[in-house]
Amino acid sequence: MAIVIFHNKIILFSLFSLLFFTFCSSHIIPKFPSSLIRPEQQLNSGSAKNGLYKTKYFTQILDHFNYNPQSYHKFQQRYLINDTYWGGAKKKAPIFVYTGNEGNIEWFTENTGFMFEKAPYFNALLVFIEHRFYGKSLPFGGNKKVAYANSSTLGYLSSTQALADYATLIIDLKKNLSATESPVVVFGGSYGGMLAAWFRIKYPHVAIGALASSAPILHFMDLVSPYVFSNTVTQDFRSESENCYKVIKGSWKLIEETAKKHGGLELLRKSFRICNNYMDANALEGWLQTAWIYTAMTDYPTPTNFLNPLPAYPVRKMCEAIDRSVTEKHSSSTFDKLYSAANIYYNYSGTSKCFDLNDNSDPHDLGGWQWQACTEMIMPLGSNKESIFPESKWSFNDRSASCKFFYNVLPRPNWITSEFGGHDIELVLKRSSGNIIFFNGLRDPWSGGGVLKNISKTIIAIVAKEGAHHVDLRYSTKEDPKWLKDIRKQELRPMESPHYRYREKETNQPSQVFFSLCVDGSYYRHDIYINNVHFVFSIVHYIHYLFMSCNNQTIITHPIMLPVPLISQCLYL
Ligand SMILES: *[C@@H]1O[C@H](CO)[C@@H](O)[C@H](O)[C@H]1NC(C)=O
Ligand SMILES: *[C@@H]1O[C@H](CO)[C@@H](O)[C@H](O)[C@H]1NC(C)=O
Ligand SMILES: *[C@@H]1O[C@H](CO)[C@@H](O)[C@H](O)[C@H]1NC(C)=O
Ligand SMILES: *[C@@H]1O[C@H](CO)[C@@H](O)[C@H](O)[C@H]1NC(C)=O
Ligand SMILES: *[C@@H]1O[C@H](CO)[C@@H](O)[C@H](O)[C@H]1NC(C)=O
Ligand SMILES: *[C@@H]1O[C@H](CO)[C@@H](O)[C@H](O)[C@H]1NC(C)=O
Repeated sequence: MAIVIFHNKIILFSLFSLLFFTFCSSHIIPKFPSSLIRPEQQLNSGSAKNGLYKTKYFTQILDHFNYNPQSYHKFQQRYLINDTYWGGAKKKAPIFVYTGNEGNIEWFTENTGFMFEKAPYFNALLVFIEHRFYGKSLPFGGNKKVAYANSSTLGYLSSTQALADYATLIIDLKKNLSATESPVVVFGGSYGGMLAAWFRIKYPHVAIGALASSAPILHFMDLVSPYVFSNTVTQDFRSESENCYKVIKGSWKLIEETAKKHGGLELLRKSFRICNNYMDANALEGWLQTAWIYTAMTDYPTPTNFLNPLPAYPVRKMCEAIDRSVTEKHSSSTFDKLYSAANIYYNYSGTSKCFDLNDNSDPHDLGGWQWQACTEMIMPLGSNKESIFPESKWSFNDRSASCKFFYNVLPRPNWITSEFGGHDIELVLKRSSGNIIFFNGLRDPWSGGGVLKNISKTIIAIVAKEGAHHVDLRYSTKEDPKWLKDIRKQELRPMESPHYRYREKETNQPSQVFFSLCVDGSYYRHDIYINNVHFVFSIVHYIHYLFMSCNNQTIITHPIMLPVPLISQCLYL
């Protein structure tokens, strides 16, 4: 998330929410892009009724890090729980926790089908925890007006507080369930993925491992070029068609020139079907940029409805719309082409009457990110000459100035890397507690700030060149391409290893036993020779059917005994 200055306009990119507001010397108009999230989607989020989980609240402390009287204030933190598949405390069955991001937790839960689909396989308990200050987890009596009033209340919104919330909630929940020996694996996508990775690093005694999907933990100052984000968007469109790239790239100047002409704004309004209220060239450009950026982020191989309803491969569809109008008989104007492409993002369901550039709605409660982007989440963004967007330099000073203006707060650009690391990440992670799986799709603009290389035996990077923003966490569908099925399988493999289990008899497990070859999750075997002793390590079917044998003598079996036919099958395999 970051602010980009395009001409005189500042754009705040959230990982999910793209907020933009016009920054003039005299006033700031906070604004959400028109129809970013449309009313029909709000209907979809009546989720509690869809039977995916039960909603619970936990009394959370306002400030974990000091002992001032105000720190002891309490608030209700929401979490969602599904115990349908849980094997129970006695069996030490695992607990999968989603570390909530910058929005309503129900929305993320519904878009994280991966956890629901894998829970039966691991007999896992599912828990989704809402991030403080988002959704219903509002400090200060649950009153959003007060919680968001100014920096003295928003000051309690930070990633470190959120991680501490997760730790205290998980520890308390495990105590309540008498499940202290159940291993906890944390999951998250985007900012939630950053939190999952950081949680594993900071709280290794609470979580045994993490799956951090599309988590740009390196997208901070001095770690990454500010241009990787917009270069990836550019590449996404350019890879579909050079003409498509050129039309979009050339559009900004055209829009600005048209807007200056007499009657120009009305022409733009008509061309783009903008509603009859305030508009200017900046607002229109922001609205288009929103469409291109979010479509690039959610360029999924199947039809989805995450930010907006979209067809499969939406970037391709947009470029087809732009290229098609070149070839059709009545040669349409650039604005018509752009309109038909933008229409895919904003009006795929075909229900929009007109597009409202002044739409301030925020149904997923993403607004708090603006504060986070003004304090610790200084994720530099800009665009260079080649970019599909207007050229604009990243400027920390501009960010600082707008944050001072907006919240009277100054960003701390080095805090995240001081707190969690970032420099020499390979070395640092290698020496950390391990067991982190990073996923990145290279079509995702945020992938430039992700961990893209394997770092150690247990810090694994899974990279899909065709993938977009945490596509791996979505529900599987019949139309999923092979690469997507493959990466989901790859992600499970490390989790099936003994490293993801709590209190194993470590001494009996040769450290070489880590990756087993997975044959569709049904059976693995690993043969290891140590001092001429033959170890066989097998997992049959489910993780809790685990046993080891040595010279054909079973030396470890998991507390859950294997059904006899399976044992004999394994021993002689
Ligand atoms: C848990 O999720 C499954 C769907 O994956 C659903 O069928 C079940 O009812 C849910 N259980 C609870 C307790 O909400
Ligand atoms: C911040 O907001 C709170 C709650 O509305 C209010 O009590 C307090 O006076 C405000 N502080 C400042 C510095 O404006
Ligand atoms: C654990 O149980 C106590 C007592 O019932 C309750 O107040 C608390 O909220 C529970 N913890 C969680 C995480 O639900
Ligand atoms: C949205 O799509 C429908 C169906 O294609 C169309 O009739 C309508 O004009 C579109 N709305 C806008 C604002 O373009
Ligand atoms: C990292 O290692 C895993 C397991 O060995 C492998 O599947 C994956 O492709 C590797 N990732 C990269 C980026 O090389
Ligand atoms: C273990 O069992 C296999 C299969 O029955 C046999 O071939 C092998 O020799 C046995 N190994 C030892 C050390 O007894």
